[in-house]
Order: sequence, then structure tokens, then C-alpha cells
Amino acid sequence: METIQLNNEVSLSRIVQGFWRLHTWNVSPQELLDFMKECVSLGVTSFDTAEIYGNYQSEILLGQALALEPDFRSKIQIITKTGINKLNPNKPYTIKHYETTYDKIKSSCYSSLKKLNTNYIDVYLIHREDPFFNHMDAVKAFDELIEEGCIKSYGVCNYDPFKFDAFHTLSNFKCVTNQIEVSPLQFEHFNSGMLDLLQKYHVHPMYWSPLNGGNIFTSNDENIVNLRLVLERIAKKHHTSTDTIVYAWLLKHPVKGMVISGTQKISRLQNAINALQINLELEEWYEIYLASGQQILR
Ligand SMILES: NC(=O)c1ccc[n+]([C@@H]2O[C@H](COP(=O)([O-])OP(=O)(O)OC[C@H]3O[C@@H](n4cnc5c(N)ncnc54)[C@H](OP(=O)(O)O)[C@@H]3O)[C@@H](O)[C@H]2O)c1
Repeated sequence: METIQLNNEVSLSRIVQGFWRLHTWNVSPQELLDFMKECVSLGVTSFDTAEIYGNYQSEILLGQALALEPDFRSKIQIITKTGINKLNPNKPYTIKHYETTYDKIKSSCYSSLKKLNTNYIDVYLIHREDPFFNHMDAVKAFDELIEEGCIKSYGVCNYDPFKFDAFHTLSNFKCVTNQIEVSPLQFEHFNSGMLDLLQKYHVHPMYWSPLNGGNIFTSNDENIVNLRLVLERIAKKHHTSTDTIVYAWLLKHPVKGMVISGTQKISRLQNAINALQINLELEEWYEIYLASGQQILR
């Protein structure tokens, strides 16, 4: 499996497994550990979660699985996130809001380490752009967490180019990724110039919801049906599956992003991995880019 080096300490597998939907899988810790081991045997060693996933339960489930075989931790990389306070019976909040203060980043990290049953996080991310963001507070918290050995790197999610540029510069260029939504149905970061800014800084994004949460295959929306027909035609030409073509489209972009698969099925994860062997022609890439009718060429 191809890996992407984020800094001197951390490399991630180009295909990452995500656990946003883990709480719906209904698996035991042993079944989850077995699933993760299968991922690793296929070369998918990097796993994405967040403090709030599964209403604060996802990290706990992962930690229970990791506790069953402590040696397994050294074979994988864990990405997790902070910065959102979600309503929950066990939390004191009255509304959902963002919080990216020094205290929140540090206390969230210590709590995630405990829940995940680990003593370090490979990539620690701010989950959403915070309008109340204090850059230097956040940098101080992250740098101290690195010093303490609690995290190996840090970055952001869902940032626009201005906010990414500001934070990356003020952190002394230590922001290792921007985790963003990109798919043949989601073009915000093409249009904003984010993918260009990341190339300028040699930073590799991580793409979430690459299949638009499965909508690419299930929606009856006319534009999505059009996209599906294009994908199916190109898949037939390459003797592969439709989802493999979506992944190949994402992986081909020069910014060299990592793709986070959200499936609970190893066969579908294998379809993502297969995409590393497919090199779409440029014209095919553009056919997919244009297929949903959202993008135009001038
Ligand atoms: N940073 C952020 O703000 C952010 C936000 C959202 C997500 N993420 C991360 O990104 C990861 C991936 O996001 P995602 O889960 O939305 O990814 P996704 O891969 O676009 O969607 C996964 C969903 O699509 C379904 N699916 C896949 N192939 C299908 C098919 N052929 N037909 C019907 N359904 C199909 C899967 O069902 P099966 O399980 O049955 O295959 C699963 O429910 C998350 O797990 C999380 O780690 C980050």
C-alpha cells in the first residue's frame, strides 16, 4: 500500500478506514478488532475517528477493541478530532457549539487517549472551522501535546483557504493535513482554490465521504443518475467496479490526497484499494468531473 508522509513522525496509508458510522455497525470489540486486522492485512493501517462520533461512543468502542491486543497499536495510525461540543445527556452544554480553546484541546486529547486505550494519537485534528478561533492558543496547545508525546502531528478539517493559510502559517507550517469533503458530487474545495493552496504548501488532504455516503449508488436524483451512468461506462472499460472508479478519480488528482472509506464491508474497502492500480485517462477524469452537471468548463 502506498503511504503518504505527513511529517518526520507520521505516514498514513493512502486508503484510510473511517469510523463515523461505527456505532451503527453493531459489532463486538473482538469483531471490530478482527475488522481492523483485516484492514491492516490489506495495507490499510490508518483509522479515522473523532471525539463526537457515535455520540461520544466511537472512541470508546475503538479503545475496547485495541485493549484486546495491545501489540496491535504499533501497527496502525489513529486520527481523531476535537473542537465540537455536541448535546449529550452526560455533557453540560445547552446548545451545540464549537470550542477550540487551549483548555479544550488539551483536555479533549487526554480524554481521547484514555478512551482509545493508547498513549499517543498520530494525527490530531480540529473538526470544524471555529468562528471564535484563537490561532495562537490552539498552536500552544498542540505544540505542548507534541512535546508531551500525546500526539505526533496536528491539522484541521473543513477549513477554507484563508483559514487554512492563517493557521498553517501561524503554526510555523506544522499543519499536516486538511480533512475535507471531496467527491464527484462535492466540488467546494476545487472551486475555493483549497487544492491549489495545499499543493503550494506540499500538504496532502484527506477526503471524507468519497462516495457521498453511498448516495452515488442509491440516489434517484437526475444529476446523480447521470454521474452513475458515466461511472458505470468507465468502470466497464477498465473491467472494474463503479466505486473503484470514484476512488481512482480522487486518487489521480495532483494534490495526492488520502481517501477515507466509510464502509463496514471489507469487499468494498478492497474496491477502494484496487483504485491504486487504475490510472484514468485525463478525458475520463473530466467526464466524471462534469457528469453531475455542477461544474462547467469555459
Ligand atoms: N472531518 C469531517 O468533518 C468528516 C465528516 C464526515 C466523515 N468523515 C470521515 O470520513 C469517513 C468516510 O465518510 P463516509 O462514511 O460518509 O464515506 P463514504 O464511503 O462516502 O460512505 C460510506 C457509506 O456508503 C455506503 N456505501 C458504500 N458503497 C455503497 C454502495 N455501492 N451502495 C450503497 N451504499 C454504499 C456504506 O455502506 P456499507 O457500510 O454497507 O458499505 C456506508 O454507509 C467517515 O467514516 C469519517 O471517518 C469526516
